[in-house]
Amino acid sequence: MIERWLRGTVLRLVQGDITTQAADAIVNAANSALVGGGGVDGAIRRAGGPEIEEACARIRAERGGCPTGSAVITAAGRLPARYVIHAVGPVWRGGAAGEADLLASAYRASLELASRHGLRTVAFPSISTGVYGYPVEQAARVALRAVAGALPRPPIEEVRFVLFSRTDLDAYARALQELGAPGAEENPDQTAGR
Ligand code: APR
Repeated sequence: MIERWLRGTVLRLVQGDITTQAADAIVNAANSALVGGGGVDGAIRRAGGPEIEEACARIRAERGGCPTGSAVITAAGRLPARYVIHAVGPVWRGGAAGEADLLASAYRASLELASRHGLRTVAFPSISTGVYGYPVEQAARVALRAVAGALPRPPIEEVRFVLFSRTDLDAYARALQELGAPGAEENPDQTAGR
């Protein structure tokens, strides 16, 4: 596990399966129609059961879906998490089609929903880097910068990235390092009593 404190929130990187994570919310790498797919989406719907599809169907009926770069929140059915935040990242088209902005926006929208619902722990997968083909090194940088720049106030306790493979974990670890060397003031344990 790799972690880093930033303004009262711990950013944590772990290798694993997002459907098994105990967190207030796990984030789904969804599509804008909110219809079930493979990858994270398939795994979340299988593990969570029909309550998730029912909630997505209601959102489809009410507002037609969820545009790329935005997110919606539903119940989590049988998952250990309380909520699922369905975030829609962009399909990779070579990098000049606004992909980075849309990907950053999907992360920001997810944190905004988490904050609005008073959630303290949120677990993200690596949005867009599977079926949608976003190169993971670039996606990791966008993801961590977006999250670091949009941490809610009052602080959320933990933002966890759950990476499926060791390669993905390594890419996110490099991107986390690139955020800059951690200052002692970022870690509440090191600043206690000051
Ligand atoms: N836990 C964590 N990560 C996972 C899991 C899992 N259970 N399953 C897959 N992953 C990883 C993939 O290896 C990839 O690195 O999540 C990353 C995102 O992959 P996708 O799930 O394919 O998401 P994305 O690229 O955003 O594509 C979204 O795929 O499943 C459909 O409905 C979904 O149309 C949407 C599209």
